Amino acid sequence: MSEIKKVRGFQDIYGENAKKYRYVVDTARDIFQLYNFSEIILPYVEDVSLFIRSVGEETDIVQKEMYVFEDRGGRKVALRPEGTASAVRAFIEERLYAKGGYHKLFYEGAMFRYERPQAGRYRQFHQIGAEIFGVDSPVSDAELIKMVRDILDALGIKARLEINTLGDFESRKEYVRVLKEYLKKVENSLCEDCRKRIDRNPLRVLDCKVETCREVIREAPVLIDFLSDKSLERFEKLKEYLNGLGVEYIFNPRLVRGLDYYTDTVFEFITDKIGAQGTVAAGGRYDTLVKQLGGPDTPALGFAAGIERLMLLVENLPIERKPVVVIPVVSEFNIDALKVAEKLREKGIKTEFVLKEGSLKSRMKLANKTGAEFVVFVSEKPELKDMETGEQEQFDNVENLIDVLVEKVV
Ligand code: HAM
Repeated sequence: MSEIKKVRGFQDIYGENAKKYRYVVDTARDIFQLYNFSEIILPYVEDVSLFIRSVGEETDIVQKEMYVFEDRGGRKVALRPEGTASAVRAFIEERLYAKGGYHKLFYEGAMFRYERPQAGRYRQFHQIGAEIFGVDSPVSDAELIKMVRDILDALGIKARLEINTLGDFESRKEYVRVLKEYLKKVENSLCEDCRKRIDRNPLRVLDCKVETCREVIREAPVLIDFLSDKSLERFEKLKEYLNGLGVEYIFNPRLVRGLDYYTDTVFEFITDKIGAQGTVAAGGRYDTLVKQLGGPDTPALGFAAGIERLMLLVENLPIERKPVVVIPVVSEFNIDALKVAEKLREKGIKTEFVLKEGSLKSRMKLANKTGAEFVVFVSEKPELKDMETGEQEQFDNVENLIDVLVEKVV
């Protein structure tokens, strides 16, 4: 029979990689807790129009990368390509705003984009992300960015922070007019997609990955020259706060994000260590999105980090304790040995009971495969072997053995 393979762009995460995955997520969760964020667990499937109306009709994500299908009830749905749109939908639908104040949420899980797979880029990938709803002040931008920096620091990951501002609606209007004029002049050098974007959504051209377009973009007018006083002031404040917090950044006036909902602050944490897929975490402000999706006028901001990309950069996992392995010397001692394992686990000791029956030699081989720290041989005169020193000690009963073992392990 032919073997069935996993679908292109999808991965099995197991062994050391699964440990890395958990380590990244647990580390991020600890920091979310420290910053007093609450978890929100969001659905993987949403009405497709949610992403069209938030991420944007002209973006690569919506145009080329979404997994869209009709469910059996004839609904047009999509596997979520990102988490922000769902978080905003939930914020509105669950009336979270009715409680007043502001809201700090975090999430974790799989996202789906039909991109060309390569190192650090998959069709199912995983993000950790956080969103803050209901705060306008740039202190929230600074705190969010600092939180991302803390997560990277905790994981031992070095990445440079690039920031930019896309300005508010007013700033953008004038800029878009000038940008369109420029793009029309150089239209012949642009790719087909970008030519279509000139009228529909010229800002998206700035994010095009095609090399000929990138050359044209390098010469394009930059948004910072068109910012309103309000947007400029807000950007200055953000920089001041980042300086105050000791968070280093690089101002990149050409940083635009691949999603349409951003306003004012945008940022990316980038490393050169994993080739072209170097953005490990990214985000920004999206002050008009909640209203655009039918909610009350609510400023908001957030970020997301690619867990697989973080995993590629994590060098050292915390050292894990090896298990104590319990072996019944002969099968008559199965029950006694199972009970020993139970007692050890009650004491919080990681315990492997050798599940395969067979000769003592074959069971010992299995114990070695688990990388045992200690082995307990259960018989009338139970024995404890320290696998590091090779020392073996005999006891009158299992209770005594367990007492000695607990001393050594806990
Ligand atoms: P994004 O830049 O599309 O933003 O994705 C955030 C991060 O997800 C990227 O920086 C990258 O680390 C990871 N990522 C994206 N696509 C892939 C892929 N195909 N394979 C592996 N990793 C990938 C967002 O998703 C926004 N929702 C972030 C945000 C939250 N903005 C405001 N709030």
